[in-house]
Amino acid sequence: MTLVEPPPIPRAAGSVPLFGHLFRLFPDPLPFIASLRQRYGDMVEITLQPGTRTLVVQDPALIRAMLTDPIASTLDKGAFFDEMRVLLGDSVVTVAGEEHSAKRRQMYPAFARPELGRYVEIMRTATQAEIDTWEPGRRMDVRETMIRLSLDMLMQTIFSDRLDAGTFRRLRHNMSTVMDSIGVRLMLPGWAKRLPIPLNTRFERGRADIRETISAAVADLRASGDDTDGRDMLSVLMNVQDEETGRRLTDEQVCNEVLTLILAGQENTATIMAWVLYELARHPDIEAKVLDELDTVLGDRPVTFADTGQLPLLDRVIKEVLRLHVTGFLLTRRTLTETKLGAWTLPAGTNLAYCQHALHRDPDLYPDPLRFDPDRWLDGATKPPPGALLPWGAGKHRCIGDRFATMELITGLSTILRQMRFTLAAGQTVRPVARVTVRPGKMLMTVESR
Ligand code: HEM
Repeated sequence: MTLVEPPPIPRAAGSVPLFGHLFRLFPDPLPFIASLRQRYGDMVEITLQPGTRTLVVQDPALIRAMLTDPIASTLDKGAFFDEMRVLLGDSVVTVAGEEHSAKRRQMYPAFARPELGRYVEIMRTATQAEIDTWEPGRRMDVRETMIRLSLDMLMQTIFSDRLDAGTFRRLRHNMSTVMDSIGVRLMLPGWAKRLPIPLNTRFERGRADIRETISAAVADLRASGDDTDGRDMLSVLMNVQDEETGRRLTDEQVCNEVLTLILAGQENTATIMAWVLYELARHPDIEAKVLDELDTVLGDRPVTFADTGQLPLLDRVIKEVLRLHVTGFLLTRRTLTETKLGAWTLPAGTNLAYCQHALHRDPDLYPDPLRFDPDRWLDGATKPPPGALLPWGAGKHRCIGDRFATMELITGLSTILRQMRFTLAAGQTVRPVARVTVRPGKMLMTVESR
């Protein structure tokens, strides 16, 4: 038998001594990462942080293999999540292996069907309260507005009315400071993260304040004796018992998980909601059909949990936005032991990453990939191969909030679209930019009453 040597893994052009690809990654890393798909094959090596090497996995089948077992069990979460751990501590999103499985089991009750049904009412009330602040005829930053809305929806599902307005505003401000800093810190070497520069001091201050606020909310609830009322996600999490070990979460673990949910949930949902409004503003024919569908299915009544799956066009619009404008930039993993991935045997400690955004815009996987076309998801249309559509990831770390996010999107969008219309200036387009996630650059639109 002859052994076939795997092809060498190319190193991406544009690397310079000491700094690696740093100058290709700043100020916006997206064009560089996206260009790798066109220029290189299944895997390519880049330097994400000076002094380190990362293999960017590009082939859909290899990405899927990396995310699912048996390979997934030989990996931890890697560089991106090392940075997250500074903020979140050990939580479902930062740990791997058995510890991760146990944490994930403990989170399930917060996302169970009856809970989701109750959250819809909270989401709708938050959306209506936001709409009531809009002045028809005003131009507004739609991404910023959606960030505010998704944070309100999430925080009210987590805390119900347990935070006062001032604390809520401070938490909202600190979350956006921290999110903005993380994306840049990800590309800095360790020593630079310790320098007393504004980026680091803002991050540290925001981080400390957020943790203090959430810890205080947990302690207050525990002290009040109302922690078993199951009224919101916080009280659900404070009472979950691991079915295998019988253990409950400590207050610090509840704090880590709550912060994880806010961080993982807020920006992604807001971004998708903003892009849906943008694409519908650019495609009034599709928007009219979505409104028809809402009228036919809902009549005058508000959307409820039972409507999930009953709005096929809105579902396809959301699915197409999750493809074209997916929020995932570079999701990382790291081998814990020698690992075979495709034709390659990777030593322990190899950094891996994949870019959902570039994957979802690959012309080999999606004809005319930049065209917004919800009908590519109609039954009978050509389906992309497994591993080509991964808005929620795959395998044991697949998004735990996927159904929650879908409910937020359906509730928020149907409430907004039936009352308000967004328009763009003639010829206006909005470009995606990569920070921690891929998100729209400045997205100004005029809001009108319907
Ligand atoms: C449109 C909105 C969302 C998108 C596109 C999205 C996407 C993702 C993706 C791609 C992952 C996998 C990351 C990886 O493989 O490393 C993930 C994980 C996760 N997401 Fe989401 N997410 C969304 C909304 C939410 C919401 C609303 C929540 C919570 C309320 C949430 C909580 C989480 C958590 C806790 C994880 C970690 C799961 C684990 O490692 O077991 N996400 N999400």
